[in-house]
Amino acid sequence: MTRTPYVARHRSRLGYRLAYALRHPGKVWPYLRRLTRDARLRLTTRDHISYYRAVMRADIKEMGPDAAIGSHSRRSWLRVGKMQFDYLIAHGLSPQDRVLDIGCGNLRLGWRLIHYLEPGHYYGIDISPEILLAAADTVAWYGLQAKLPYLALVDDLTFAALPDAYFTVVHAHSVFSHSPIEVIDECLRHVGRILHPDGFFDFTFDRTEKEEHHVLREDFYYRTETLVELAARYGLRAEFMADWERYRHKQSRIRVRHARRRAVGRGEGGRRPGGRAVRSPVSRPAVTGRAREAAVGGRGRPPSRSRSAALPGIPRRRVIRPAGRGRRGPGRRRCTW
Ligand SMILES: C[S@@+](CC[C@H](N)C(=O)[O-])C[C@H]1O[C@@H](n2cnc3c(N)ncnc32)[C@H](O)[C@@H]1O
Repeated sequence: MTRTPYVARHRSRLGYRLAYALRHPGKVWPYLRRLTRDARLRLTTRDHISYYRAVMRADIKEMGPDAAIGSHSRRSWLRVGKMQFDYLIAHGLSPQDRVLDIGCGNLRLGWRLIHYLEPGHYYGIDISPEILLAAADTVAWYGLQAKLPYLALVDDLTFAALPDAYFTVVHAHSVFSHSPIEVIDECLRHVGRILHPDGFFDFTFDRTEKEEHHVLREDFYYRTETLVELAARYGLRAEFMADWERYRHKQSRIRVRHARRRAVGRGEGGRRPGGRAVRSPVSRPAVTGRAREAAVGGRGRPPSRSRSAALPGIPRRRVIRPAGRGRRGPGRRRCTW
Protein backbone atom coordinates (compact mmCIF):
# COMPACT_ATOMS: atom_id res chain seq x y z
CA MET A 1 0.00 0.00 0.00
CA THR A 2 1.45 3.40 -0.91
CA ARG A 3 0.94 6.39 1.33
CA THR A 4 1.39 9.29 -1.01
CA PRO A 5 -0.24 11.85 1.29
CA TYR A 6 2.78 11.74 3.63
CA VAL A 7 5.45 11.94 0.99
CA ALA A 8 3.79 14.71 -0.98
CA ARG A 9 3.66 17.25 1.84
CA HIS A 10 6.13 20.03 2.46
CA ARG A 11 5.48 20.78 6.11
CA SER A 12 7.81 23.74 6.43
CA ARG A 13 6.07 25.75 3.68
CA LEU A 14 4.12 28.78 4.88
CA GLY A 15 1.12 27.75 2.77
CA TYR A 16 1.03 24.32 4.37
CA ARG A 17 1.33 25.82 7.85
CA LEU A 18 -1.42 28.39 7.27
CA ALA A 19 -3.79 25.78 5.85
CA TYR A 20 -2.99 23.50 8.80
CA ALA A 21 -3.64 26.31 11.29
CA LEU A 22 -7.03 26.99 9.70
CA ARG A 23 -7.96 23.32 9.94
CA HIS A 24 -6.65 22.97 13.53
CA PRO A 25 -6.96 26.35 15.28
CA GLY A 26 -6.44 24.71 18.69
CA LYS A 27 -2.90 23.74 17.69
CA VAL A 28 -1.71 27.25 16.89
CA TRP A 29 -0.85 28.36 20.42
CA PRO A 30 1.01 25.16 21.40
CA TYR A 31 2.89 25.38 18.09
CA LEU A 32 3.95 28.95 18.82
CA ARG A 33 5.13 27.88 22.28
CA ARG A 34 7.16 25.12 20.74
CA LEU A 35 8.58 27.49 18.15
CA THR A 36 9.77 29.84 20.89
CA ARG A 37 11.14 27.06 23.04
CA ASP A 38 13.04 25.52 20.16
CA ALA A 39 14.46 28.90 19.12
CA ARG A 40 15.72 29.39 22.68
CA LEU A 41 17.22 25.88 22.76
CA ARG A 42 18.95 26.46 19.43
CA LEU A 43 20.49 29.67 20.72
CA THR A 44 21.77 28.03 23.88
CA THR A 45 23.22 24.83 22.40
CA ARG A 46 26.32 24.38 20.28
CA ASP A 47 25.32 21.69 17.79
CA HIS A 48 22.45 19.47 16.72
CA ILE A 49 23.15 16.72 19.24
CA SER A 50 23.15 19.07 22.21
CA TYR A 51 20.09 20.84 20.78
CA TYR A 52 18.15 17.59 20.36
CA ARG A 53 19.29 16.38 23.76
CA ALA A 54 17.81 19.58 25.23
CA VAL A 55 14.58 19.00 23.27
CA MET A 56 14.35 15.49 24.74
CA ARG A 57 15.04 16.79 28.25
CA ALA A 58 12.28 19.40 27.92
CA ASP A 59 9.81 16.93 26.39
CA ILE A 60 10.44 14.28 29.04
CA LYS A 61 9.97 16.86 31.76
CA GLU A 62 6.77 18.13 30.23
CA MET A 63 5.16 14.98 28.85
CA GLY A 64 6.99 11.95 30.20
CA PRO A 65 9.28 9.55 28.33
CA ASP A 66 6.63 7.72 26.28
CA ALA A 67 5.30 10.91 24.74
CA ALA A 68 8.82 12.30 24.31
CA ILE A 69 9.61 9.42 21.97
CA GLY A 70 6.34 9.88 20.13
CA SER A 71 3.83 7.60 21.88
CA HIS A 72 1.10 9.54 23.61
CA SER A 73 -0.43 6.47 25.18
CA ARG A 74 0.93 3.22 26.53
CA ARG A 75 -1.19 1.45 23.95
CA SER A 76 0.61 3.25 21.15
CA TRP A 77 3.97 2.60 22.83
CA LEU A 78 3.25 -1.12 22.90
CA ARG A 79 1.83 -1.16 19.37
CA VAL A 80 4.72 0.68 17.72
CA GLY A 81 7.31 -1.42 19.55
CA LYS A 82 5.54 -4.59 18.50
CA MET A 83 5.36 -3.43 14.90
CA GLN A 84 9.13 -2.97 14.81
CA PHE A 85 9.73 -6.29 16.53
CA ASP A 86 7.35 -8.24 14.28
CA TYR A 87 9.10 -6.84 11.24
CA LEU A 88 12.53 -7.96 12.42
CA ILE A 89 11.19 -11.40 13.33
CA ALA A 90 9.62 -11.66 9.89
CA HIS A 91 13.06 -10.88 8.49
CA GLY A 92 14.71 -13.73 10.33
CA LEU A 93 15.85 -12.21 13.63
CA SER A 94 17.12 -15.00 15.87
CA PRO A 95 18.04 -15.06 19.57
CA GLN A 96 21.72 -15.34 18.59
CA ASP A 97 21.69 -12.05 16.72
CA ARG A 98 23.67 -9.18 18.26
CA VAL A 99 21.56 -6.07 17.95
CA LEU A 100 22.59 -2.43 18.19
CA ASP A 101 19.55 -0.18 18.73
CA ILE A 102 20.59 3.37 17.80
CA GLY A 103 18.41 5.97 19.56
CA CYS A 104 16.88 3.26 21.73
CA GLY A 105 14.65 5.70 23.64
CA ASN A 106 12.89 4.12 26.61
CA LEU A 107 13.02 0.69 24.95
CA ARG A 108 9.71 0.70 23.13
CA LEU A 109 11.28 -1.90 20.84
CA GLY A 110 14.22 -2.65 23.10
CA TRP A 111 12.44 -4.53 25.87
CA ARG A 112 11.06 -7.02 23.35
CA LEU A 113 14.51 -7.52 21.86
CA ILE A 114 16.08 -7.93 25.29
CA HIS A 115 13.45 -10.50 26.17
CA TYR A 116 13.98 -12.40 22.92
CA LEU A 117 17.75 -12.25 22.45
CA GLU A 118 20.37 -14.19 24.34
CA PRO A 119 21.80 -12.41 27.40
CA GLY A 120 24.17 -9.61 26.51
CA HIS A 121 23.05 -9.46 22.87
CA TYR A 122 21.16 -6.18 23.10
CA TYR A 123 23.00 -2.84 22.89
CA GLY A 124 21.04 0.39 23.13
CA ILE A 125 22.62 3.80 22.64
CA ASP A 126 21.06 7.23 22.89
CA ILE A 127 22.08 10.86 23.20
CA SER A 128 19.60 11.60 26.01
CA PRO A 129 20.60 10.77 29.61
CA GLU A 130 17.01 11.21 30.76
CA ILE A 131 15.62 8.73 28.25
CA LEU A 132 18.31 6.22 29.23
CA LEU A 133 17.18 6.46 32.83
CA ALA A 134 13.66 5.73 31.62
CA ALA A 135 15.11 2.81 29.60
CA ALA A 136 16.65 1.40 32.78
CA ASP A 137 13.23 1.66 34.41
CA THR A 138 11.74 -0.31 31.52
CA VAL A 139 14.34 -3.06 32.00
CA ALA A 140 13.45 -3.24 35.69
CA TRP A 141 9.70 -3.13 35.03
CA TYR A 142 9.85 -6.11 32.68
CA GLY A 143 12.22 -7.98 34.97
CA LEU A 144 14.88 -8.27 32.29
CA GLN A 145 17.94 -7.63 34.47
CA ALA A 146 19.36 -11.11 33.91
CA LYS A 147 19.51 -10.44 30.16
CA LEU A 148 22.25 -7.89 30.86
CA PRO A 149 21.29 -5.29 28.29
CA TYR A 150 23.95 -2.73 27.52
CA LEU A 151 22.69 0.86 27.58
CA ALA A 152 25.04 3.71 26.83
CA LEU A 153 24.99 7.45 26.42
CA VAL A 154 26.66 8.72 23.26
CA ASP A 155 27.61 12.10 21.87
CA ASP A 156 27.94 11.07 18.26
CA LEU A 157 27.44 8.14 15.91
CA THR A 158 31.05 7.10 15.41
CA PHE A 159 30.56 3.96 17.56
CA ALA A 160 34.10 4.42 18.83
CA ALA A 161 33.54 2.17 21.86
CA LEU A 162 32.11 -0.74 19.89
CA PRO A 163 34.00 -3.62 18.25
CA ASP A 164 34.62 -4.30 14.56
CA ALA A 165 32.23 -6.50 12.53
CA TYR A 166 30.24 -7.35 15.64
CA PHE A 167 26.59 -6.47 15.14
CA THR A 168 24.45 -8.69 12.99
CA VAL A 169 21.54 -6.25 13.18
CA VAL A 170 21.78 -2.49 13.59
CA HIS A 171 18.50 -0.66 13.96
CA ALA A 172 17.51 3.01 14.12
CA HIS A 173 13.79 3.63 14.28
CA SER A 174 12.63 7.23 14.14
CA VAL A 175 16.12 8.62 14.66
CA PHE A 176 17.05 9.88 11.19
CA SER A 177 13.65 11.55 11.09
CA HIS A 178 15.15 13.87 13.71
CA SER A 179 18.61 14.12 12.21
CA PRO A 180 20.25 16.61 9.87
CA ILE A 181 22.20 15.09 7.01
CA GLU A 182 25.56 15.50 8.80
CA VAL A 183 24.41 13.13 11.56
CA ILE A 184 23.21 10.54 9.04
CA ASP A 185 26.44 10.94 7.11
CA GLU A 186 28.46 10.31 10.25
CA CYS A 187 26.44 7.21 11.05
CA LEU A 188 26.77 5.74 7.54
CA ARG A 189 30.48 6.55 7.47
CA HIS A 190 31.11 4.51 10.63
CA VAL A 191 28.44 1.82 10.72
CA GLY A 192 30.25 -0.41 8.21
CA ARG A 193 33.07 -0.96 10.68
CA ILE A 194 30.84 -2.44 13.39
CA LEU A 195 28.43 -4.25 11.06
CA HIS A 196 28.98 -8.00 10.68
CA PRO A 197 29.78 -8.98 7.06
CA ASP A 198 26.37 -10.64 6.74
CA GLY A 199 24.56 -8.13 8.92
CA PHE A 200 22.12 -5.41 8.02
CA PHE A 201 21.34 -1.92 9.23
CA ASP A 202 17.70 -0.88 9.07
CA PHE A 203 16.65 2.70 9.59
CA THR A 204 13.41 4.58 9.15
CA PHE A 205 13.12 8.08 7.78
CA ASP A 206 10.49 10.64 6.92
CA ARG A 207 10.27 10.35 3.17
CA THR A 208 9.49 13.14 0.80
CA GLU A 209 9.19 12.95 -2.94
CA LYS A 210 9.42 16.72 -3.13
CA GLU A 211 12.03 19.13 -1.83
CA GLU A 212 13.95 17.97 1.24
CA HIS A 213 13.15 20.09 4.27
CA HIS A 214 12.91 20.23 8.03
CA VAL A 215 10.45 21.55 10.58
CA LEU A 216 11.95 23.40 13.57
CA ARG A 217 15.14 21.32 13.10
CA GLU A 218 13.25 18.55 14.90
CA ASP A 219 11.74 16.70 11.95
CA PHE A 220 13.69 16.10 8.74
CA TYR A 221 12.31 14.93 5.40
CA TYR A 222 14.58 13.18 2.87
CA ARG A 223 14.29 11.70 -0.56
CA THR A 224 15.11 8.00 -0.77
CA GLU A 225 17.80 8.61 -3.43
CA THR A 226 19.70 10.99 -1.14
CA LEU A 227 20.11 8.32 1.52
CA VAL A 228 20.83 5.51 -0.92
CA GLU A 229 23.58 7.59 -2.57
CA LEU A 230 25.03 8.58 0.78
CA ALA A 231 25.27 4.93 1.84
CA ALA A 232 26.98 4.03 -1.46
CA ARG A 233 29.69 6.59 -0.71
CA TYR A 234 30.72 4.46 2.26
CA GLY A 235 30.71 1.10 0.50
CA LEU A 236 27.19 0.22 1.61
CA ARG A 237 24.32 -1.03 -0.50
CA ALA A 238 20.99 0.48 0.48
CA GLU A 239 17.60 -0.91 -0.40
CA PHE A 240 14.16 0.64 0.07
CA MET A 241 12.06 -1.83 2.10
CA ALA A 242 8.74 -1.88 0.31
CA ASP A 243 7.26 -4.54 2.61
CA TRP A 244 7.56 -2.15 5.58
CA GLU A 245 5.03 0.11 3.87
CA ARG A 246 2.40 -2.56 4.56
CA TYR A 247 2.73 -1.87 8.26
CA ARG A 248 1.09 1.52 7.65
CA HIS A 249 3.76 3.38 9.55
CA LYS A 250 4.30 7.06 8.73
CA GLN A 251 7.98 6.60 8.09
CA SER A 252 9.66 4.56 5.37
CA ARG A 253 12.51 2.11 5.86
CA ILE A 254 15.86 1.51 4.20
CA ARG A 255 18.10 -1.51 4.71
CA VAL A 256 21.83 -1.15 4.36
CA ARG A 257 24.36 -3.93 3.90
CA HIS A 258 28.01 -4.15 2.99
CA ALA A 259 28.29 -3.73 -0.76
CA ARG A 260 31.17 -6.18 -0.71
CA ARG A 261 31.70 -8.90 1.85
CA ARG A 262 34.34 -7.91 4.40
CA ALA A 263 36.77 -10.31 6.00
CA VAL A 264 36.10 -11.11 9.65
CA GLY A 265 38.58 -11.91 12.36
CA ARG A 266 38.78 -15.24 14.16
CA GLY A 267 35.96 -15.87 16.55
CA GLU A 268 33.56 -13.60 14.74
CA GLY A 269 32.25 -16.44 12.61
CA GLY A 270 31.65 -16.21 8.92
CA ARG A 271 27.88 -16.32 9.05
CA ARG A 272 25.34 -14.09 10.64
CA PRO A 273 23.93 -16.15 13.51
CA GLY A 274 20.41 -15.16 12.67
CA GLY A 275 20.61 -16.37 9.11
CA ARG A 276 17.15 -17.95 9.04
CA ALA A 277 14.75 -17.85 6.14
CA VAL A 278 12.66 -14.71 5.83
CA ARG A 279 9.15 -15.27 7.12
CA SER A 280 5.95 -13.60 6.12
CA PRO A 281 5.72 -10.07 7.49
CA VAL A 282 2.44 -11.02 9.17
CA SER A 283 3.90 -13.83 11.26
CA ARG A 284 3.71 -13.38 15.03
CA PRO A 285 6.65 -13.57 17.41
CA ALA A 286 6.58 -15.87 20.40
CA VAL A 287 6.40 -13.53 23.38
CA THR A 288 5.67 -15.30 26.61
CA GLY A 289 4.74 -14.73 30.24
CA ARG A 290 4.98 -11.28 31.65
CA ALA A 291 6.15 -9.91 28.36
CA ARG A 292 3.09 -11.22 26.58
CA GLU A 293 0.77 -9.75 29.18
CA ALA A 294 2.32 -6.40 28.58
CA ALA A 295 2.31 -6.83 24.83
CA VAL A 296 -1.42 -7.41 24.77
CA GLY A 297 -2.02 -4.51 27.10
CA GLY A 298 -2.75 -6.52 30.26
CA ARG A 299 0.12 -4.81 32.05
CA GLY A 300 -0.25 -1.57 30.24
CA ARG A 301 0.91 0.56 33.13
CA PRO A 302 4.01 2.58 32.48
CA PRO A 303 7.22 1.28 33.99
CA SER A 304 7.71 2.25 37.60
CA ARG A 305 9.64 5.47 37.90
CA SER A 306 10.83 4.70 41.37
CA ARG A 307 13.92 2.68 40.54
CA SER A 308 17.07 3.25 38.64
CA ALA A 309 18.55 -0.12 37.85
CA ALA A 310 22.34 -0.29 37.75
CA LEU A 311 23.07 -1.42 34.22
CA PRO A 312 26.27 -1.60 32.29
CA GLY A 313 26.76 1.83 30.83
CA ILE A 314 24.36 3.58 33.19
CA PRO A 315 25.58 4.66 36.58
CA ARG A 316 23.08 4.27 39.40
CA ARG A 317 21.69 7.71 40.02
CA ARG A 318 18.58 9.58 40.90
CA VAL A 319 15.66 9.02 38.57
CA ILE A 320 14.43 12.20 37.03
CA ARG A 321 10.72 12.47 37.64
CA PRO A 322 9.07 14.33 34.83
CA ALA A 323 6.75 17.08 35.91
CA GLY A 324 3.36 17.18 34.26
CA ARG A 325 3.73 13.66 32.94
CA GLY A 326 1.28 12.72 30.25
CA ARG A 327 0.21 16.26 29.50
CA ARG A 328 -0.71 16.66 25.94
CA GLY A 329 -2.25 19.79 24.60
CA PRO A 330 -3.66 19.89 21.11
CA GLY A 331 -0.38 20.96 19.57
CA ARG A 332 1.82 18.71 21.66
CA ARG A 333 2.27 16.44 18.72
CA ARG A 334 5.75 14.97 18.70
CA CYS A 335 6.02 14.07 15.18
CA THR A 336 8.01 11.29 15.93
CA TRP A 337 6.93 7.90 15.39
C1 LIG B 1 11.46 9.10 18.40
S1 LIG B 1 12.57 8.42 19.52
C2 LIG B 1 12.56 6.73 19.00
C3 LIG B 1 13.06 5.80 20.07
C4 LIG B 1 13.14 4.33 19.67
N1 LIG B 1 14.00 4.14 18.52
C5 LIG B 1 11.76 3.79 19.42
O1 LIG B 1 11.38 3.63 18.27
O2 LIG B 1 11.06 3.60 20.39
C6 LIG B 1 14.15 9.00 18.94
C7 LIG B 1 15.27 8.66 19.92
O3 LIG B 1 16.51 8.85 19.25
C8 LIG B 1 17.38 9.56 20.09
N2 LIG B 1 18.31 10.25 19.19
C9 LIG B 1 18.08 11.31 18.40
N3 LIG B 1 19.18 11.62 17.69
C10 LIG B 1 20.12 10.70 18.03
C11 LIG B 1 21.47 10.47 17.64
N4 LIG B 1 22.08 11.25 16.75
N5 LIG B 1 22.15 9.44 18.20
C12 LIG B 1 21.54 8.62 19.10
N6 LIG B 1 20.27 8.80 19.53
C13 LIG B 1 19.56 9.82 18.98
C14 LIG B 1 16.48 10.46 20.92
O4 LIG B 1 17.12 10.85 22.12
C15 LIG B 1 15.29 9.55 21.15
O5 LIG B 1 15.44 8.76 22.29
